[in-house]
Amino acid sequence: MFITFEGIEGTGKSTQIALLKEYMQARGERVVVTLEPGGSRIGAELRRVLLALENRDLTSQAELFLYLADRAQHVAQVVRPALASGAVVLCDRFADSTVAYQGYGRGMDPELLHRLNAVAVDGLWPELTILLDLDPVIGLERAVARNLSEGKTNAEGRFEAESLAFHSRVREGFLKLAAAHPERISVVDATGTPEEIAPRVRALVEARLHA
Ligand code: TYD
Repeated sequence: MFITFEGIEGTGKSTQIALLKEYMQARGERVVVTLEPGGSRIGAELRRVLLALENRDLTSQAELFLYLADRAQHVAQVVRPALASGAVVLCDRFADSTVAYQGYGRGMDPELLHRLNAVAVDGLWPELTILLDLDPVIGLERAVARNLSEGKTNAEGRFEAESLAFHSRVREGFLKLAAAHPERISVVDATGTPEEIAPRVRALVEARLHA
């Protein structure tokens, strides 16, 4: 089963992934946790290029193709083999992030991005996407606090440096995607503590497993 997690910065995706991993393992599943950008060996190099503040001059188009290259490599080398081996794959961000950030955030055509995503994923779409939804004011506060506590003030700040208006557009973009694909994307309110949110995530996964 292929499950992706989406949302703006600071929604707690990685925390919820870790909690769901524990839960699925306790159920006897083998779980592979991965992420975009950076889930493959080559992708880790692309991630550094994509997120470094020193690369402020990266053009929107070049950025797009790096995300797509990361995705194509990740699907082929990590996600597809893991699913073929019978594992549950939990992925932090996937194709919807490209439509939300490069489309609704940067202004590129969402339809075109969908077609480019189709090339990158090569038929492998998630069965379930959990969209953790949060007011960007709260999300950015959480992301900045996390970066400071991890000492990541410079190396990984390119998106945190974007304006509140940008993150608001991205959030609305994710919600539009969820409205357009209700069979795949489920929205979870990400205000509250991780322990409050985890049962909502588990309920969605259970419903999918028994569908
Ligand atoms: P990351 O540190 O993984 O962010 P987070 O902790 O919020 O998940 O950084 C990934 C950044 O890349 C994030 O700001 C969103 C952006 N992104 C895109 O713009 N397009 C994409 O297709 C993907 C996968 C990520």
